[in-house]
Amino acid sequence: MKLLALAGALRKGSLNRQLLSLAVKLLEGAGAEIDPIDFRALAIPIYDGDVETSTGLPPGALELAQRVTAAEGLVIASPEYNFGVPALLKNAIDWLSRAKPMPLRGKSALLLSASPSLVGGNRGLWALRPSLEVLGVHVYPDMFSLATAHQSFTPEGELKDEALGKFLRRVIDGFVRVTRAIQTTEKK
Ligand SMILES: Cc1cc2nc3c(=O)[nH]c(=O)nc-3n(C[C@H](O)[C@H](O)[C@H](O)COP(=O)(O)O)c2cc1C
Repeated sequence: MKLLALAGALRKGSLNRQLLSLAVKLLEGAGAEIDPIDFRALAIPIYDGDVETSTGLPPGALELAQRVTAAEGLVIASPEYNFGVPALLKNAIDWLSRAKPMPLRGKSALLLSASPSLVGGNRGLWALRPSLEVLGVHVYPDMFSLATAHQSFTPEGELKDEALGKFLRRVIDGFVRVTRAIQTTEKK
């Protein structure tokens, strides 16, 4: 099972990128193959209908669409910006939604967030869900939001709180199981 790993933040010290790294390790342990997406390298411009009309999807968006097509699902770790979805991620989804055939339809997604706040960026995930679901993505019902994330990682990148680490493992194992079942059905 191949999964794309996407972070909604670019910065090196990103808490969401740390959480994504931990999730990737657990997903690989559960048998998934990961295709890590580097949004800086893709350099996807802001959606512009005139660009789409004149030249179609820009190269970065086209490459992302091809890599989504080749995968069974996505794992996304994203901060919430002002209770919403960071433009980086929303813009990528907007371009993907214009690709034909639309590559997100029928894929599975696991949503994660991290924030220094006590809510852990969870409101941003609730804002992200509808944009994915309207495009036909099977968004896993359980989401994982890491509160006070700036104090939550060990130097090895694990979660300091053992119970929380166990919960993350349970969410990931459930997601892998459900994704296998959904993708078997999607391919029939
Ligand atoms: C533009 C902007 C908006 C933000 N809005 C929120 C917010 O609504 N809720 C929240 O918990 N944190 C908010 N934050 C703080 C981020 O959660 C915090 O900077 C976090 O570390 C960003 O994720 P990263 O560490 O992966 O870069 C905001 C940060 C920025 C830069």
